[in-house]
Amino acid sequence: MAKPNLIAIGSYFDWDVSAMDARYTVHPVSSPEALADLPEDLRNDARAIAFKGHAPLGAAQMDLLPQLGLIANYGVGFDAIDVAAASARGIRVTNTPDVLNDDVADLAVAMLLAQSRKIIEGSDWVRSGTWPQTGELPLNRKVCGRRAGIVGLGRIGREIADRLAAFKMEIHYHSRAPKDTPEGWIYHADPVSLAAAVDDLCVALVGGAETAGYVSKEVIHALGPDGVIINISRGSTIDEAALLDALESGAIRGAGLDVFYNEPNIDPRFLKLDNVVLQPHQGSGTVETRKAMGELQRANLAAFFAGEALVTPVN
Ligand code: 8YV
Repeated sequence: MAKPNLIAIGSYFDWDVSAMDARYTVHPVSSPEALADLPEDLRNDARAIAFKGHAPLGAAQMDLLPQLGLIANYGVGFDAIDVAAASARGIRVTNTPDVLNDDVADLAVAMLLAQSRKIIEGSDWVRSGTWPQTGELPLNRKVCGRRAGIVGLGRIGREIADRLAAFKMEIHYHSRAPKDTPEGWIYHADPVSLAAAVDDLCVALVGGAETAGYVSKEVIHALGPDGVIINISRGSTIDEAALLDALESGAIRGAGLDVFYNEPNIDPRFLKLDNVVLQPHQGSGTVETRKAMGELQRANLAAFFAGEALVTPVN
């Protein structure tokens, strides 16, 4: 029997390519926009997309593929996909939750430690020969014992909170409703009161229109001049102009950021700041986790083509 066609949007690792090739006739496409360049007979036949990346995949692209039944996203965040448009067309969407929680939470903690303990400056201090010439690195700041605020206590937020609790931090959080948490964790019904009550703020919100600018200028200022903001969610969840202003003026002490508005061409104002740890959206970027994400994406594809229940459906 002929292998079904699969349109693979984005750039995949060799192990993903070989695994997809084994089951499908794969048609690589660089971005959703490039779907329009596929031959018409292929567009009319294709039933599934393996999607990777952050470029928008909307109604116009979906309408290019009249038989489309599944968009299997490589990633937990599916804000690039217009899920309402997919649902309206009977197209199912899947994502890759849970397998990346630990890595993303690890990076959040790593950025908080790196920002507070000046780990990147410390490394430069040694490599540049400044240590023998100048002596001690200027003192940095303690992490343990501070109050941590988690904005969004979902699967990743919870992993961050568990880690920061182990760092002897007092845990505060904000989410739509209080959650079942260990004793002593403090719920805040709104993000401004959360920010006002804590020292450091970790943003672990779902991306998308609903959370755009959720960490507003008011939230940032409520954190205050000793505060550090960590973001591993999406650049869109923080008012980025307000964040840059606050970092430049000292309205907050610093930040650790893995995500930005305009990736990878981030606002050049970030590059001039020495109080920010910058990372290239690499939260889930370990060999182990990226392999697991690819496997989960393919498990959803396999379930779809077998007519079975999807493993991790979004809609
Ligand atoms: C990306 C992510 O998917 O899972 C998410 O939501 O943001 C990342 O893991 C990854 O960069 C691949 O595009």
